Amino acid sequence: MSQLSVPHLLGIKELTREDIELILTTAKHFKEIINRPIKKVPSLRDVTIANVFFENSTRTRLSFELAQKRLSADVVNFSSSSSSVKKGETLLDTVNNILAMKVDMIVMRHSSVGAPHFLAKHIKANIVNAGDGTHEHPTQALLDSFSIHEKLGVVEGKKVCIFGDILHSRVALSNIFALKKQGAEVMVCGPNTLLPRYLNELGVKVELDLRKALQWCDVANVLRIQLERQTIKYFPSLREYSLYYGINKEILDSLDKEILIMHPGPINRGIEITSDVADSPHSIILDQVENGVAVRMAVLYLLAGRG
Ligand code: CP
Repeated sequence: MSQLSVPHLLGIKELTREDIELILTTAKHFKEIINRPIKKVPSLRDVTIANVFFENSTRTRLSFELAQKRLSADVVNFSSSSSSVKKGETLLDTVNNILAMKVDMIVMRHSSVGAPHFLAKHIKANIVNAGDGTHEHPTQALLDSFSIHEKLGVVEGKKVCIFGDILHSRVALSNIFALKKQGAEVMVCGPNTLLPRYLNELGVKVELDLRKALQWCDVANVLRIQLERQTIKYFPSLREYSLYYGINKEILDSLDKEILIMHPGPINRGIEITSDVADSPHSIILDQVENGVAVRMAVLYLLAGRG
């Protein structure tokens, strides 16, 4: 029996390299299953999972729900905008009331950094972090690693550059942890104002020049500018950002090699990436979304102790 070293998936920081490899190997098995004519297995038939979302989501919420349904779990969905949170109910009261209905596992997205870590100290159910503020988005990083492995055969030794708004990105931090643990080389590239000061402690390279970063990497993971998290102006205008840090076909064609293009979504077409790049054969953006279901099946299956 293979099992994770942790009872919750709070962040990639808490995982060992063996945990990551176990999740990715298990996800490969589930990807084969969900491509069969009958996509469903009974693995979590006796498990009830609540998806508790305090922030908007398209990919993560639907992907978790599909993963749960493919595993035959019972699923309930909670959206804060239509809940009693609007009447002043606390996070802990909300989750304890959901658990009182015999729910076994909580998948939570929250705008506050550390909200799932706080919950883990106060409740007994398994918790999966589906994104906590600007901190971590562990299942996104796992599906990104799965997708790199699928396309390039290996993650170790590959050069991955994360472009854009690193400062506000939970995808960036989780990817840095995941890639470094698997032995990849990691670079970040963006305007100085969008690069956090703690990058040195994470052992990543920093490059301010877009062309140099693209020339260096095997994989470009392009991030969205998160205007909703920016309380001050970090660059003069979106037009200027796009001029210096937007990835377009002309720049990619000028490189002396081909690179893999990734993006966690949602895309701001024409700002950080043009449509001719996002929709090109080098883009694996929709493969990432497809792989998200298998990776989340693996995480839920392993946390439920079924490994
Ligand atoms: N990549 C991602 O987390 O997308 P959503 O915000 O739509 O879930």
